[in-house]
Amino acid sequence: MKLLSYFIVFLLTVFGFISCKSKTDSQTTEQIDRKWWKEAVVYQIYPRSFKDSDGDGIGDLKGILSKLDYIKSLGVDAVWLNPIYSSPNDDNGYDVSDYRNIMKDFGTMSDFDALLKAMHERKIKLVMDIVVNHSSDEHEWFKQSRSSRDNPYRNYYHWWNAEKGKPPYRYSLFDVNHDAWKYDSLTNAYYLHYFSQKQPDLNWENPKLRQEIYDMMKFWAEKGVDGFRLDAFQFAAKDTTFPAFPKGFEKNFVQYYAMGPNLHTYLKEMHTEVFSKYDVMSVAEGAGNTFQDAHDLVDADRNELNMAYAFEAIDIAKPEGYSVLHLKNVFSKWDSAFAEKGWLSVVLANHDQARLVSRFGNDQPEFRDLSSKMLTTFLMSMRGTPYYYYGDELGMTNAGFEKIEDYKDMPTLNEYQNQINIGGDLKKYMELIKFSCRDNGRTGMQWDTTANAGFTTGTPWLKTNKNYVSINVSAQEKDANSCLNYFRKMVKLRKDNEVLVYGQFTSIDKNNPAVFAYTREMKGKKLLVLLNFTNKPAAVNTGVDVNKATLLIGNYTSAPAAENLRPYEALIYEL
Ligand code: NOJ
Repeated sequence: MKLLSYFIVFLLTVFGFISCKSKTDSQTTEQIDRKWWKEAVVYQIYPRSFKDSDGDGIGDLKGILSKLDYIKSLGVDAVWLNPIYSSPNDDNGYDVSDYRNIMKDFGTMSDFDALLKAMHERKIKLVMDIVVNHSSDEHEWFKQSRSSRDNPYRNYYHWWNAEKGKPPYRYSLFDVNHDAWKYDSLTNAYYLHYFSQKQPDLNWENPKLRQEIYDMMKFWAEKGVDGFRLDAFQFAAKDTTFPAFPKGFEKNFVQYYAMGPNLHTYLKEMHTEVFSKYDVMSVAEGAGNTFQDAHDLVDADRNELNMAYAFEAIDIAKPEGYSVLHLKNVFSKWDSAFAEKGWLSVVLANHDQARLVSRFGNDQPEFRDLSSKMLTTFLMSMRGTPYYYYGDELGMTNAGFEKIEDYKDMPTLNEYQNQINIGGDLKKYMELIKFSCRDNGRTGMQWDTTANAGFTTGTPWLKTNKNYVSINVSAQEKDANSCLNYFRKMVKLRKDNEVLVYGQFTSIDKNNPAVFAYTREMKGKKLLVLLNFTNKPAAVNTGVDVNKATLLIGNYTSAPAAENLRPYEALIYEL
């Protein structure tokens, strides 16, 4: 008995010592959980629009390969490619008909292998887009599934037999009538599609389907890809009894459709089957409805994902503008919710949005350059992994097409048809899409002043933005003060200052309606970031004498005037 109590005392002493030591270590911040994906700047490429190598008007893998030195010159660490798998392109690749093959428009598997090899030679990592909430209706699984009620693939999708009556309403984001159930006379049943009719939802309750997906992910991981972005995955798990949603909430997509039963079980399984076996990062599109949802997806001890990106900030920009205070609050509250645990992604633009500078900055000639640089300063100086969309480094702007014929985006065209069907205000709709349609952010990369901005020698799949003659890589390479060169400097500043990655974020002058001011602090190093988000001069109260601080970067060529910021001025000081 006595021996046993000695043993217990011994154990307590040893473990007490260890826990005491780790407490001390964490206080010295030596215990930072460093990960490559936390330190990375991720550059997103929309393959269809980056560089066309064969003149068919559509960007391709060889095109990206030919621009790898440019990508390397940006200083970014990883590239996220939107889907490159075989697809009939109802939704530009987000409708996959074969997960193990390359879309014909984009090239071949050997083009892919060559691209991955060349990226790795340049120490650039590759993140693949995994679209597994749904497939294409042209996928072999769906062809089998719809062929008969007793086909072995029937349960790969969600079917509702018509003799049960009409299924409870589900909202579809992309459907012309926003009805997510499509009747199929072949088997007298409805199938579910949260997106378009050509994007039937996969049934994650089926273990066979899940295994097929993990095997497919392993196929890409074995090839050496470095990460996965899970498209729309928060919607993958469903209550397959399909209860009616409460009245008035049938269209509440995030609250009622996201984070369904078993989602975490599936993610844990995916982690065991795939993520834990490779050095890959994982990021989900969407972070649920609450901070708790987001933590449940990404906290390291849960063994699910590394990161998720939330839409609260992205959704702030509206045609009539947005409140800077609102933006500050959203970013500040997300930062504090993740201050102790989990990891954030920092993003304001991607292929589902119009252009960064047109939405969050100011694309008028007087302010485009300044506001684009200000936004770059912001994205590269927040805590979290920045995702930066191709062309934003040039300050590319919305194309703002006037005619519906110039738009190619399926949901935009479907909604146009819906507006006709319901007698909606088409003029108003055209004004709206001019600002917000995702085609605005999908025009060809503006490389130079040759035809179609050097994106293609053929006819581009989407019209080129007319301003390519002045906004292009070639011109900006020659200008030391261009947006492009500013982006490079800002990426380098982040790389050279670990405090910008891991350092504590503290918002200052919180109620300032124009200036987002904050410090980043770590191991005795403190940086002060001042960003005027408006087109007017604005004063900021920093509580320190900035004249005594060292200016690390600024977006004006002339010296700043202490705490009086010029329109869209961005400054980072070391205190
Ligand atoms: C989200 C993707 O980002 C978007 O482009 C796509 O249309 C939908 N998911 C459907 O896959």
